[in-house]
Amino acid sequence: MDTSETLKAADLLALERQYCSYGDTVHYVDPPKVFVGCEGSYLYDDNGTPYLDLQMWYSAASFGYKNQRLNNALKRQLDGLPQLACQYLHAEKVEVAARIARYCEERFGVKGRVHFNVGGSQAIEDSLKIVRNATGKNLMFAFMGGYHGRTLGASAITSSYRYRRRYGHFSDRGQFIFYPYCFRCIYGLKPETCNLYCQDQFARLFESEYFGVWDAKARESEYGAFYIEAVQGTGGYVIPPRDYFKRLAETCRKHGILIVDDEIQMGFYRTGKFWAIENWGITPDIIVFGKALTNGLNPLSGLWAREELLAPELFPPGSTHSTFSSNTLGTAVALEALKMMEEENYEAMVNEKGAYFLAGLRELDQRHPGVIGQVDGIGLALRIEVCKEDGFTPNRELTDRIFAEGLKGDLQIGRQKYGLVLDVGGYYKNVFTLAPSFTITRDEIDLAIELLDQLFRRCEA
Ligand SMILES: Cc1ncc(COP(=O)(O)O)c(C=O)c1O
Repeated sequence: MDTSETLKAADLLALERQYCSYGDTVHYVDPPKVFVGCEGSYLYDDNGTPYLDLQMWYSAASFGYKNQRLNNALKRQLDGLPQLACQYLHAEKVEVAARIARYCEERFGVKGRVHFNVGGSQAIEDSLKIVRNATGKNLMFAFMGGYHGRTLGASAITSSYRYRRRYGHFSDRGQFIFYPYCFRCIYGLKPETCNLYCQDQFARLFESEYFGVWDAKARESEYGAFYIEAVQGTGGYVIPPRDYFKRLAETCRKHGILIVDDEIQMGFYRTGKFWAIENWGITPDIIVFGKALTNGLNPLSGLWAREELLAPELFPPGSTHSTFSSNTLGTAVALEALKMMEEENYEAMVNEKGAYFLAGLRELDQRHPGVIGQVDGIGLALRIEVCKEDGFTPNRELTDRIFAEGLKGDLQIGRQKYGLVLDVGGYYKNVFTLAPSFTITRDEIDLAIELLDQLFRRCEA
């Protein structure tokens, strides 16, 4: 077989079965889905069928597929300085760092620095080093339902045991705390009347040394940092109550525990703010970012940390390194993306589109009572909780069916065939986590609701 020509989907799948590892996530669907093109909010299969994408590469392509402005920035860099060992400086790296640090200084009133890497998990690893280096602690708090990546260090603070089970002992495994998942409150309480009971339970851990996290005499915790996602991504786009993080931050500050804010999925306006945590009014010590900053083009990740944590005396040259970190292509796209975010009012645009989308989801909910247990959203991070008829029991089977049917590409609107690309998340894998492109139009949002309606009707039957 000549692999230099474009293979038909069937031949490609046969080759893949033989030669590709199954250890990534491709085989979550069987057979895996092949796409050959993309544009705006759509992916295309080899029949030319458009698939409206409501997940946009888990938010990595937030600014739309083939975004001309960002693609052009990449092309310019290809003709300028496409390659440079990360040991040397180039302008775009420094400008990206300066813009992010200045944004944080303006927003939080705190001076800091930026450190780059390639993928999200790697930036999480770097943040772990920074916390260990600054605090001398290697234990972390993290949330149940939290996801911080799948390298060994990131897996240790990612709640799911499935990601650790086959890889031996994790001596630094995070201590996982209940996340305020109010629709399924672990204590069976209601957010209107609970007075953040779950947060009080966390604060109570510090009342006595016998709760295992705090030495009252030494006034010292065994834990270095609390890893948070303001809105859990893989955990199902769960949106915490208004005052939740303020209370959490009070407890952490009081006990010398740093706050590391993982913005890899929600950063860069997914929730209508540059950083998702701005919706909750606290200032983290470290912010980790990745994904959308390069719109899924050349990967780039990194972190911002307070000066006291990242000052050269504390984190000297060589403290961490990866060959492709701060690569010229990624930083060129990132710089253009940051300029774009400064020039256009993404906050207004994302919130306006999100509100329109959420109104459509609420109508959808009324057409499928019970089976849709909850719809919710902040900015363009939206969720549909799929349940049994009682409106509460998670319905994973139906979720999987809808997900697979969307990928068949045989939904019909007039004479046009469509597919729908969804993403499944949540603790019970019964939540559609929707992350549409920021370039999505009202017509495309209407189309999304129509396609979702067709899928629910087809699969409920
Ligand atoms: C919140 C969060 N943190 C970390 C990661 C890991 O990033 P990467 O997959 O680039 O390693 C992800 C990826 O989905 C994520 O959503």
